[in-house]
Amino acid sequence: MKINVKILRFDPEKDRRQHWETYQVEASPGDRVLDVINHVKWYIDPSLTFRRSCAHGICGSDAMLINGRNRLACKTLLQDVVKDGGTITAEPIRGLKVEKDLLVDMEPFFDAYRSIMPYFINDNPPPAGERLQSPEDAERMDQGSNCILCACCTTSCPIFWVNGSYIGPAAIVQAHRFIFDTRDAATQQRLNVMNQNTGVWRCRTAYNCTDACPRDIPVTQLIEEVKRAVMYQQA
Ligand code: SF4
Ligand code: F3S
Ligand code: FES
Repeated sequence: MKINVKILRFDPEKDRRQHWETYQVEASPGDRVLDVINHVKWYIDPSLTFRRSCAHGICGSDAMLINGRNRLACKTLLQDVVKDGGTITAEPIRGLKVEKDLLVDMEPFFDAYRSIMPYFINDNPPPAGERLQSPEDAERMDQGSNCILCACCTTSCPIFWVNGSYIGPAAIVQAHRFIFDTRDAATQQRLNVMNQNTGVWRCRTAYNCTDACPRDIPVTQLIEEVKRAVMYQQA
């Protein structure tokens, strides 16, 4: 089939503002959006700039707005977003500074991630063998540990768009993973970060984050669990 790939372009060395450019591409319904964007770069305009790496939904680097919704380009099949002769749109994710074309500055996103101390903390010497956990306890932190830090959730959140100081759903999901880890000893520090005015109370349960997550993590539910943990000061 033949489709139009409409991409929001921006070159800081030439352009004063973003503008759309459209490319005609021959493709199959089973191709991914990443395939056609790669085609544009490899065969039509090598200056097109975007992030991608694994091409298999693992690295989280090719989040973009596809037909107006945050998606990973490598996990989105053409047959789900366009028909023969139709048009797909690709734009950079929102709320972060556009560096060039589909590439945004991810530093504020990773600053928020670092602020929740995304690593295991427990200074007590481990027992012989390993720190054990029951299957039930492991299940409580399981969903959050599937996060690939793609930023689809945070950059789909209207609260983040209007106030970039909001820590955002991705950082809260990561905090959840450690707050509900029974082996970790820094629960209180993380609850304190969540309780700041940039933290979990900014969430207004808009649910965009849950819709956007390519790992099917129930983001809003995890946020609500963190809110309860902050309220009762225990996980
Ligand atoms: Fe991406 Fe989902 Fe993690 Fe958010 S929670 S960063 S959408 S994988
Ligand atoms: Fe934003 Fe998700 Fe809350 S979209 S308002 S973080 S439920
Ligand atoms: Fe790695 Fe899409 S390129 S998740």
